[in-house]
Amino acid sequence: MNTIDRYAVIGAGVQHSRSPQIHSLFAKATDQSLRYDLIDVPPGDFAAAVREFFAGGGRGLNVTVPFKESALALATELTARARRAGAVNTLVRGGITLLGDNTDGAGLVRDLTVNLGCRLRGASVLLLGAGGAARGIIAPLLATGVQRLTIHNRHAERAQQLAGEFADLGPVCVAALDSVNAASEANTARPPGAAFDLIINATSASLQGQLPQVPAHAVGPQTLCYDCAYGKSDTVFVSWARAQGAARAVTGLGMLVEQAAESFYVWRGVRPETAPVLVALQQNIQT
Ligand code: ATR
Repeated sequence: MNTIDRYAVIGAGVQHSRSPQIHSLFAKATDQSLRYDLIDVPPGDFAAAVREFFAGGGRGLNVTVPFKESALALATELTARARRAGAVNTLVRGGITLLGDNTDGAGLVRDLTVNLGCRLRGASVLLLGAGGAARGIIAPLLATGVQRLTIHNRHAERAQQLAGEFADLGPVCVAALDSVNAASEANTARPPGAAFDLIINATSASLQGQLPQVPAHAVGPQTLCYDCAYGKSDTVFVSWARAQGAARAVTGLGMLVEQAAESFYVWRGVRPETAPVLVALQQNIQT
């Protein structure tokens, strides 16, 4: 009987996912014996595929687009951060229970603060998007003590809904497109026209090779522009941000590695080092 612990990433169109490579590197570095596969399922087959995986002895799953909300519904128990996010990216089998967790926000905050040296406390942050990806990162961002988190979404009512849901956790507000400007918010000491310290693209526009609506004046020479998406090369948003003169513009490869490390910790109780894995992936992506 094969007793090796099995894990996998499950999603629609995940053939090119970097997660198997990341988790193999983590396992090697921490001397953990495990197998990590890809499960590519069409929408509609998600629940059956999850049940089959765990019935076959699987220990844990990473869940990605478009199943994070379906995973929330399947879990029999939720961590506080998954419940707050309203989405699950990590499933853990424990006896008869299926625990749902969400490591996306922790991964983003760690990439921003540790890998990129970004100071979030007191920062003015513009969050683009109000879908599942945005929802998962709002609470962890507010917990860092940002000065203000401004949400902008193509359909404003979704941004409004999200801001209302998280208002108890910190200073979160909504901006219409023509007023997406840190200086337009009350209680800022910034001069008119001041840009944001950090702009996070959590829309799925990059996946379609598109740029979400964002006015150029939101970007200044001190602005870090962060795209939660990543690809073999820069995303449209990252190229655009560079052209606007942003201090830095990066893709979400670091977030991918950091959320994976957090999932690995949830599953194995061991926290892998992420820096060498990020370097390995960056080298791989550029070749
Ligand atoms: P995810 O779980 O990846 O966040 P989602 O829940 O479908 O996926 O949300 C996608 C987000 O990207 C939404 O905020 C969407 O904006 P709308 O709510 O207005 O639809 C945003 N989005 C997708 N394509 C976009 C585009 N081309 N320009 C701007 N925003 C876009």
